[in-house]
Amino acid sequence: MAVMSQASALELRGVSMQFGGVQAIKKVGFQVREGELFALIGPNGAGKSTLFNCINGIYKPTEGSIFFRGRDITAFSPFKIAHMGIARTFQNIALFHRMSVLDNLLLGRNPVLGAGVLRGGLFFGRALREELEAREAIEKIIDFLEIERFRKQIVGSLPFGIQRRIELGRALAMKPKVLLLDEPVSGMNSEEREDMARFILDIKEELGTTVVLIDHDMGVVMDIADRIVVLNFGIKIAEGTPEAIAADRHVIQAYLGEEEGAP
Ligand SMILES: Nc1ncnc2c1ncn2[C@@H]1O[C@H](COP(=O)(O)OP(=O)(O)OP(=O)(O)O)[C@@H](O)[C@H]1O
Ligand SMILES: [Mg+2]
Repeated sequence: MAVMSQASALELRGVSMQFGGVQAIKKVGFQVREGELFALIGPNGAGKSTLFNCINGIYKPTEGSIFFRGRDITAFSPFKIAHMGIARTFQNIALFHRMSVLDNLLLGRNPVLGAGVLRGGLFFGRALREELEAREAIEKIIDFLEIERFRKQIVGSLPFGIQRRIELGRALAMKPKVLLLDEPVSGMNSEEREDMARFILDIKEELGTTVVLIDHDMGVVMDIADRIVVLNFGIKIAEGTPEAIAADRHVIQAYLGEEEGAP
């Protein structure tokens, strides 16, 4: 079991993001500790996905800084940030639907190798060794996520819940230090949600990976998160343990959409 330390895996300081007249994020700050399962929740349009896009370099914040293990990564490219060890999944599944499960996982491991696999190309020396290492790592992920029986199937033909698991596998193939999951249980039935929640917990406990999890509602997050930050209209309105968040007046108001008088 992974030991949670006080060391900071990820830190946001006064991060803002503006799109024309829309201020999607307003001076948001928080720290994610090494080994922690951290959740980001909030209503539609609260700025959750935008925050992920800032962390992994797709967007450059208009204000503030982002640190990965103490290093300022605010100006780094998405490629560099991924290479340093921050992986993510997307709110809408972003897999290659006409390719097999195995090839999708190999692409996560190394886009260049993946391309070779696609071409059916030849591998010599170093490339061959890397290919073998990649295949070994992928086999471990296949075991871990219990997707052996789907390995040769075309991704587009698989049930939605399994596709989500493949996407998770592809992110894990990068051997990330921090894994950002954007609504990994959205659109799932309750059995699929439970499976996914268990895999996310295992990623933290068995692999020791720091996880930041976005969820639209409080469902799964309340069960598995160590700490939660709540965004509403781009502003951080609460931060704390699941128990504290469930009892927080501002959070209840944000979710019920009431001005005052929430229980
Ligand atoms: N590229 C963009 N250009 C303009 N506005 C954007 C862009 N991306 C996000 N926004 C706006 O920023 C705000 C936050 O959007 P974001 O997608 O981050 O919310 P969210 O919390 O992920 O919502 P959801 O729960 O629906 O996924 C919204 O008002 C959205 O319209
Ligand atoms: Mg979103």
